[in-house]
This record gives sequence, C-alpha cells and structure tokens, in this order.
Amino acid sequence: MSEETAILEVRGVSLQFGGVRALSDVTFSVARGDLFAIIGPNGAGKTSMMNCISGRYTPTSGRVVFKGRDVTGLKPNQRAELGIGRTFQNLALFGHMSVLDNIMVGRHHLVKNNFLNGALYWLGGAQKEELDHRRAVEDIIDFLEITHIRKAMAGTLSYGLRKRVELARAIALRPDLILLDEPMAGMNLEEKEDMARFIIDLNEEWGITVIMIEHDMGVVMDISHRVAVLDFGQKIAEGLPAEIMSNPRVKTAYLGEDDDTPAGTDEEVA
Ligand SMILES: Nc1ncnc2c1ncn2[C@@H]1O[C@H](COP(=O)(O)OP(=O)(O)OP(=O)(O)O)[C@@H](O)[C@H]1O
Ligand SMILES: [Mg+2]
Repeated sequence: MSEETAILEVRGVSLQFGGVRALSDVTFSVARGDLFAIIGPNGAGKTSMMNCISGRYTPTSGRVVFKGRDVTGLKPNQRAELGIGRTFQNLALFGHMSVLDNIMVGRHHLVKNNFLNGALYWLGGAQKEELDHRRAVEDIIDFLEITHIRKAMAGTLSYGLRKRVELARAIALRPDLILLDEPMAGMNLEEKEDMARFIIDLNEEWGITVIMIEHDMGVVMDISHRVAVLDFGQKIAEGLPAEIMSNPRVKTAYLGEDDDTPAGTDEEVA
C-alpha cells in the first residue's frame, strides 16, 4: 500500500510490560476509508495495539505513522487533535452528566473560545461557536438515534445505550480514524445489529476510517473490509474476511482456545 492511501501505518511495534511481551514486531497498514478489524483470542494484544495507536501506551520499539506523520512520541490528546478518536473496552462515560453534556465533552478540544478570551463573546464569536457546537452535537444525536435520551443521566441508561453514547462522544471529535474496542460486547442481538449499522454508516456516510476489535466473528465477517489476527502478541494473518476464515493458522489459534467453537460461527469465539 502506498503512503498516500494508508491513513495509518504500524511499523514493527513491540510492547513489553515487565516480563510480558504484549506485542511482538507487529506491522500493518490501514487504508483511508477502510473498515479494519483486529481479532484474536483473549490476551492476544488487541487492546495493547489500540493503546499504541491512540497514544495511551508508547511502544517499546517500532513506529506509528498517522497521515504520513510519525506520531509515536505524541500524547493521546495530541493524537486526538490530529484526528484519532476512540472508545474504550470498558465504558468511560461521566455517569452523573447528561448524554448531551457527555457528547459536548468530546468536542472539548475543538472549543477555541473560553472565558479567558471572553472579549470575543461580546463580538459574537463565542455565541456563534457555541451554536456551531450545539448543531454538530445535535447531528450526531440524530444520527445515533438517541434524541429521546439526550437529557438523561448517562449512568441511568442500559449498557447498549451507554455504548452508543460513548460512540457519539468519540465522533464528536470529528476524527478521521476511529478506534473501537469491542463496541458490541455485552449487547443483545438487536443492539448489536443497530451498532453494526451505525459503524457501517459512519464509515460510508461520514467517511471515517474504522479500526474495530470484535470477538463476534459473524459481525467481523459481515462488516469489515480487512482483518488482522493477533495471537500471543504476534500478527499471524491479515487479509479479506473470507481469507481469514479459511486460514489454518487462524483456526488453530482459536481451536487452541476453545475446542467447541471453531472460527467463523456466530458464537463468541474467545
Ligand atoms: N497495563 C498492563 N500491565 C501489564 N500487563 C498488561 C497490561 N495491559 C495488558 N497487559 C498484558 O498484555 C497482554 C495483552 O493484553 P491485551 O489487553 O492487549 O489483550 P486483548 O487481546 O485486548 O485481550 P481481551 O480479548 O481479553 O481484551 C496480556 O498478557 C495482558 O495481561
Ligand atoms: Mg482487549
């Protein structure tokens, strides 16, 4: 893949936690506009990989290149400003705040006016900016079909809805690339179908490149364009969903985990 078409390049990334080697020399590229899945058994290093991309962890060795720029040394907020958004495997919402306010938090870095340069307020700058933010947030609320809960406290919502609000907050940053760590974990079938539709739409209609970790192989095979497979911190396969399904190394990685659940079923695999 040429550098122009790749929005993200992970080059030889390794990550060590004391004696644990969470990632070993992992390399892959994600094309602009891709819906890219990272799969693998529990403890394979998937979340660690996301954290190296988002900047939460700094790789022990290797580089992360985003839009042609080496971001390996940048902090998470700096990467967010460049256009990398994310959600977490475990929910990270402010439970005591409304849905609306939780999403507004996502736009925080886009807010230029604050009371330190309040003079602008009197020139109308802050008011206009506030209005623009409100509009952008309302668009997202519309898109994710959460209008009915916009005033509700995030902490009182069902798990599926909270996951959706978390996605809303991540999109509010207007990322070019979004990292989704198990966006459908713990959801029932209907919630999963909704979430799959939202992910496809934000990829196709909003033009956001998606990297998604997901255990449900049915979902991965249905919606992703390309798949990378991690096992014990190493990339053991990468390709089209159908290629991954028939890859013997991938089957072995999963069968080694759980003899009853071969890769490619709709069951939770790992
Ligand atoms: N902060 C940390 N400190 C020490 N070890 C860690 C840390 N984070 C992850 N690890 C270890 O790194 C390895 C990879 O973990 P990681 O969370 O990336 O796996 P995963 O593929 O996301 O698994 P799961 O499917 O269970 O979410 C595991 O052995 C884990 O115990
Ligand atoms: Mg994980």
